[in-house]
Amino acid sequence: MAGRFEGKQALVLGVANRRSIAWAIARRLAEEGAQLAFTYQGERIEKSVRELAESVSSPLVTECDVRSDDDVARVFSEVGGVFGGGLDLLVHSVAFAAAEDLEGRFTDTPRDRFWLALDVSAYSLVICARAAEPLMEARGGGGVLTMTYLGGERAVPHYNVMGVAKAALDASVRYLAWDLGLKGIRVNAISAGPVRTLAARSIAGFTTMEEIVEQRAPLHRHIEADDVGSAAAYLLSDDARNVTGTTLYVDSGYHSMGM
Ligand SMILES: NC(=O)c1ccc[n+]([C@@H]2O[C@H](COP(=O)([O-])OP(=O)(O)OC[C@H]3O[C@@H](n4cnc5c(N)ncnc54)[C@H](O)[C@@H]3O)[C@@H](O)[C@H]2O)c1
Repeated sequence: MAGRFEGKQALVLGVANRRSIAWAIARRLAEEGAQLAFTYQGERIEKSVRELAESVSSPLVTECDVRSDDDVARVFSEVGGVFGGGLDLLVHSVAFAAAEDLEGRFTDTPRDRFWLALDVSAYSLVICARAAEPLMEARGGGGVLTMTYLGGERAVPHYNVMGVAKAALDASVRYLAWDLGLKGIRVNAISAGPVRTLAARSIAGFTTMEEIVEQRAPLHRHIEADDVGSAAAYLLSDDARNVTGTTLYVDSGYHSMGM
């Protein structure tokens, strides 16, 4: 496919394996000409991320735990190093909540695990956007994209503290868009319907979520990670040059229903 991203350089956080939404986005950006750097979290997934990165000739694969300020600072310094002091696109596709908090009652969420979910799933966008700002400014602007879910706007049984984290993430998108707009940096989110990934498997009742989408969504079908890849490519491309601070729903229309 001819390239909307020829000459563009992107950093992708959140690939764990080939089912990851981040990988569907990365593949699409690469197909359209982008050069991609990747982060991975922990040795357990390093090998699979390195293999995937190699398949798109990535110049940089580096470790990043988004809870660590030092890791984030090092990663963006390495990105500046390999990308000649600039960065065009940032894909943030990272979230975490303890499995026990995605099973029981939200009411029982303990303080430490509440902050853990918010830290990894929402604050990480803020710190990454801040670190990306000077590199994107060097390019005269840029695009930031994160992944959210309807559970941040409505109560979805079992989504619990992750819903609260997504609400914080959604608000962060709007405030970052306001701050960074002056520098030509756009910040948007995609709200995806259920996709079977590693993270999704830790949500109790995920199968029920899928069944309900099939029954109630206007299109009566599931989305695929590649659908998110296409939407991401739009939001990160110049086709969306006047789109910022917004959420694009890729959920077969499920969010539009009242019952
Ligand atoms: N799968 C779905 O149904 C669905 C729907 C809507 C939104 N999302 C969102 O999409 C994003 C990607 O999730 P996915 O479904 O592709 O699952 P995934 O498990 O493939 O990706 C989650 C990523 O988060 C990373 N991560 C977790 N803790 C981290 C930390 N401390 N530091 C750095 N990275 C860390 C993991 O390593 C992994 O790469 C998440 O924000 C998720 O909430 C997923």
